[in-house]
Amino acid sequence: MKLIITKHNLGLWAASYIRARWTARTKDPFVLGLPTGGTVVDMYAALAALVKNGKMSFKNIVTFNMDEYVGLAPDNEQSYHYYMKHHLFDQVDISPRNIHILDGQAEDLTGQCAAYEEAIKQAGGVDLFLGGVGRNGHLAFNEPNSPFDSRTRVMELTESTRQANARFFHNDPFQVPAKALTVGIGTVLESRELLFLASGRQKAEAVARLAQGPITEKWPITALKTHPRATLLVDPEAASALTADMKEQIGQTRPAQNSQDLILTIE
Ligand code: GLP
Repeated sequence: MKLIITKHNLGLWAASYIRARWTARTKDPFVLGLPTGGTVVDMYAALAALVKNGKMSFKNIVTFNMDEYVGLAPDNEQSYHYYMKHHLFDQVDISPRNIHILDGQAEDLTGQCAAYEEAIKQAGGVDLFLGGVGRNGHLAFNEPNSPFDSRTRVMELTESTRQANARFFHNDPFQVPAKALTVGIGTVLESRELLFLASGRQKAEAVARLAQGPITEKWPITALKTHPRATLLVDPEAASALTADMKEQIGQTRPAQNSQDLILTIE
């Protein structure tokens, strides 16, 4: 996998990368896996701007979101349905039938998860799965110790995740739903390409575990290292826990998409 440290805005960087991949696509529809969270707000704003300026279109894009809280209605402002509508879907020319998000209010949650896996298959698999990183290294809502071959399912959220996400729920971790629906790590790993983003010091430990530690289910994000085409894009704060050795190695490597970026290939 590649670790890219950039001083540029992560959202602009990612949006221009997505556009490049979409432009170079070899098939239609182009299938995107989509995340939520504070880290990717800028990315959605940048994608919306590209569409507004006629540089990109979502007409031939099919999307699958990573996760959703169990029990929240789509019009609840903290639901991922609401987030996606607000930050992306209402801003671009996507057809509603091309949007897929797990329904946290479904009666048969397990059946719905199986149907989601099937829908991804029917769409021809995900071309580019985008993601953020939890403070505890979670990927989508795959909490620590999730198997790397896990599929879409219901997940019990850890205390640490409920605390991290409490900022969206009046700073009260008990208001954060206790469960979520999430694609599995196996579901994500089956995608043709992965681009994950991490910003800020609170993600520094997860980034260091990924860059320097062993591949382990204790840190779900380390699953990225098992994928042949995975990139983790980070800002300098999220890279701040890397060892001096690692930083030196990175300093010697070549520039990435932007001339000031540092890139490291981790075998
Ligand atoms: C939630 C989402 C994750 C996301 C994480 C990070 O827990 N389920 O998919 O990666 O938040 O969010 P933020 O970008 O707000 O730090």
